[in-house]
Amino acid sequence: MNSAQPFHNKTILVTGASSGIGLASAQAFWAHGAKRVYITGRDANKLASAVSVLGQNAVGVVADVADLAQIEQLKTTIAEHGDTLDVIFANAGVAHNNSLGTTHETSFNSIFDTNVRGVFFTVQTLLPLLNHGGNIVLNASVAAQKGMPNLSLYSASKAAVRSFARSWANDLKGRKIRVNAISPGVTRTPIMENGLKMNDEQIAQFSAYLADAAPAGRMAQPDEIAAAVLFLASAAASYVNGIELSADGGLTQI
Ligand SMILES: NC(=O)c1ccc[n+]([C@@H]2O[C@H](COP(=O)([O-])OP(=O)(O)OC[C@H]3O[C@@H](n4cnc5c(N)ncnc54)[C@H](OP(=O)(O)O)[C@@H]3O)[C@@H](O)[C@H]2O)c1
Repeated sequence: MNSAQPFHNKTILVTGASSGIGLASAQAFWAHGAKRVYITGRDANKLASAVSVLGQNAVGVVADVADLAQIEQLKTTIAEHGDTLDVIFANAGVAHNNSLGTTHETSFNSIFDTNVRGVFFTVQTLLPLLNHGGNIVLNASVAAQKGMPNLSLYSASKAAVRSFARSWANDLKGRKIRVNAISPGVTRTPIMENGLKMNDEQIAQFSAYLADAAPAGRMAQPDEIAAAVLFLASAAASYVNGIELSADGGLTQI
């Protein structure tokens, strides 16, 4: 294996890769030799922009992970290209605040349908295409290790994702498939505006909080999380299985 190109000739799927951590990860897989990178998202325009950033060997598939038929269609599309997968990065996720006492059922469903059901059925559906010795990385969150205010649904959904990594590492041992979770800390992506509805002032306040609370003293950039994802998915992590890797600037470690 060429250490500069650890994903040489590999075929990768990154769900939710039209922006943020998913897009940065797709770019990093590409830069490290991937043969083809499949990326997904719900918004066709955003996805097309991401494909144009990635170049000709990226394939964008509009697929909502909360919709099992669309995940099946994703599988069909990959199979029709004649591809199997070496890596699945189940990254697609949403974040909304919820206040205990006034949370509506639709809020519960929207978080769990994407973050838990979506991750479960993405992996289960795509599993037949995943090669022996392949690799799964799940995007969890440090939120599951904290008791952050007004984030109970999001945090619980990510606790489920972390748990999947443990169980599936065991379930898939016969196929030599490793399964790990990445737990990003606060990372500057569009989820802050689009999901958490934060304005510039609130983002600045969050930054100021992190300057004190996290040894890194700042938010992460998406490419810093992508680097940790690539480590988990690479042969360099060949004896790393079932873990949660916190890439959080130390926020949850002190
Ligand atoms: N940013 C952080 O601080 C942070 C921290 C810890 C964990 N995470 C996790 O990191 C992951 C990526 O988030 P991000 O911060 O990079 O945010 P982002 O920039 O908003 O990216 C989310 C991506 O997921 C896609 N997506 C959302 N719902 C989807 C669905 N139902 N089906 C398919 N694609 C879907 C979005 O595209 P469409 O909207 O077009 O579908 C987008 O491409 C999430 O799982 C998030 O929980 C983020």
